Amino acid sequence: MAARDASYLLLGLFVILNTWGVRADIEVNMEDRVEVFKGDTAQITCMFTSSEGIGGMMIQWLYVQRTGERQRIYYQDSTMTVIDRGTEYTDRISVNGTGATAEVVLTIEDVQLTDETEFICVITGLTDGAAEGRTMLKVFKPPALPSIIDKVQTGISVHEDDLSKIGTCEVKNGFPKPNITWYRNTTPLRAVWNKVAIVPRVTIESSGLYSVQSELHLKVEKSDKDDEFYCEVTYFVPGGTRMTETDKMKITVFYPATEVKVWVESPKGKIKEGDTVELHCQDNGNPPSSIISFRHLESNRQVDTNVFVLENVTTKDNGQYECTTYDTETFEPTKGTTSVFVHSLSPAVVEPKGPVVVAQGGSLEVTCNAQSSLQTETTWFKNEKEVSKGQTLMLKDASFDTAGTYKCVVTVPEVGLSTSESLHINVQGPPEFLNTDNTDLEKYYDETVELSCEARGFPDPEIKWTTSDEQELQVIGSALETHTEDGIKSMVKIKVTSDITAFCNVSNDHGADARIFKIKATVKTTPAPATTTTTITTTRATTTSSISSTTVKAQTAIPPEKVKKESSGVIIAVIIICILLLAILGSVLYFLYKKGKLCGRSGKQDLTKEKSSKDNIVVEMKSDNTEEAVLLGVNGEKQPSNNQ
Ligand SMILES: *[C@@H]1O[C@H](CO)[C@@H](O)[C@H](O)[C@H]1NC(C)=O
Ligand SMILES: *[C@@H]1O[C@H](CO)[C@@H](O)[C@H](O)[C@H]1NC(C)=O
Repeated sequence: MAARDASYLLLGLFVILNTWGVRADIEVNMEDRVEVFKGDTAQITCMFTSSEGIGGMMIQWLYVQRTGERQRIYYQDSTMTVIDRGTEYTDRISVNGTGATAEVVLTIEDVQLTDETEFICVITGLTDGAAEGRTMLKVFKPPALPSIIDKVQTGISVHEDDLSKIGTCEVKNGFPKPNITWYRNTTPLRAVWNKVAIVPRVTIESSGLYSVQSELHLKVEKSDKDDEFYCEVTYFVPGGTRMTETDKMKITVFYPATEVKVWVESPKGKIKEGDTVELHCQDNGNPPSSIISFRHLESNRQVDTNVFVLENVTTKDNGQYECTTYDTETFEPTKGTTSVFVHSLSPAVVEPKGPVVVAQGGSLEVTCNAQSSLQTETTWFKNEKEVSKGQTLMLKDASFDTAGTYKCVVTVPEVGLSTSESLHINVQGPPEFLNTDNTDLEKYYDETVELSCEARGFPDPEIKWTTSDEQELQVIGSALETHTEDGIKSMVKIKVTSDITAFCNVSNDHGADARIFKIKATVKTTPAPATTTTTITTTRATTTSSISSTTVKAQTAIPPEKVKKESSGVIIAVIIICILLLAILGSVLYFLYKKGKLCGRSGKQDLTKEKSSKDNIVVEMKSDNTEEAVLLGVNGEKQPSNNQ
């Protein structure tokens, strides 16, 4: 009997390990384990065979209690099925199949963590005895998403003697216990003495679920500043494992500097004299050290900040600037330098030094020099107009037009520096009149006439007014002499007492010249009543206080009411008639204006524009004996006339 039992036992083990054939005739076949999520429904299958056939079997389900005792939860035979009352499973189980089907399934609803135990299926035949099988029920609960709590908030110094806490990884409420692995970048971290320490802590919640924490402690190195830390959680699920990760975190590492950077913050590009230069200095430590000494090696000037401001720089500021920073913990110095070069431009020097005198027809070479560390450009100007480029100014065949003030401007285009110097050049020669107008005048007796002449030459010509018979001119006041742009201008006022021939004599060391003014004195006739006399004068001046010889000439060319029998007489007469008509029209308009009846000024403007083809023509209206006159300028505005 024992040998038979043993042989059947061997056979049973050989066929299905977890089937325990008590008697050879009944075999029970069950899965090793059934895995299920908490809250789900578990199904445990019990298959059996019997040599007698499967009718009339008694089926029992039991489970192993925490104490190790077996507790029946279900019973079935050919006459009844019973779910045992008062067990944990009374309300949660059901069984499919009967002793006649060779397979029964135990269904457990709403599986709890406490259901993780062995379930036993016992089959008892009518005559063959009994056999049983066992299935382990495994329960799983995925944990919540993991996170890194209490991340290190401050920076960690590499000088730190002990390991520093980086953070705690936490995963809550899993079953069975989840595992936590810390990662640095892609490498899992394991405890290394004095370098890495990982401190786990497991908590079993009242619910029976596991919460796991893992603290990471590191000896921080400089390279950790760029590292990413995170942790990975692995946990079991039915049929396998799963993995989740936390967000990645970085840490701030305080480390000492290895070098100091010194640079010119502004200006960007080349530095020129007068600039404000800002030098900056910073070491590559974290944080950069604030213990700084910033020094100009050549002058020993020093600041204790990371910004060195040089105002209004000169070439004296050239040279090396050295910045030393000191580690805030170890006071280890680190140095860096930069050099500064200030581009300059020396004052322009003109050779020969002025004023220079050149003979008429002569030539002159003038140079202009200004030193700079950069490429310069030289331009010569005369009267604001560019006359030459380059250092050397060549003047050939000098004439009076050559004379004047020359300005040489040297610039450094790259940085915008510039300097200039002027030179006055005189051209030696006899005086030369600048105005060649007709000088034949006709004037009334007792009228005052202004004569002027302008001449140039070098040395400055002397201007004298005389008459043919050496008689003194009846000059009112003295000659008024002014230096003009081109030369010298002299003006006299003469009272006409007879026909006059006046000389404007100009002379200097190199020669003399004279201009002859002929003034014919005439008797004024009584003008016809109700007519007015009009004179047209052309002048550049806006006032009539100074009448140049041009003005005088124009007045002479068209004398009022005294048309001579000349070849051009007829033409003049026609012109005068036109002028008279214009004058009448003018008078009427003026009269209306005075009376305030002509309000708009546009009428006057139109009139002026219509009759004046040139902009510089002034229409003068003069009533004969009264000196009251009104000038209508080109802009149509009323101007008081001056007495003549
Ligand atoms: C957790 O770690 C233990 C010990 O290393 C291991 O036996 C177990 O399989 C791990 N669990 C998971 C889910 O990886
Ligand atoms: C002025 O010039 C005239 C004409 O050339 C001459 O006759 C006269 O003598 C000169 N007078 C003087 C003071 O030079």
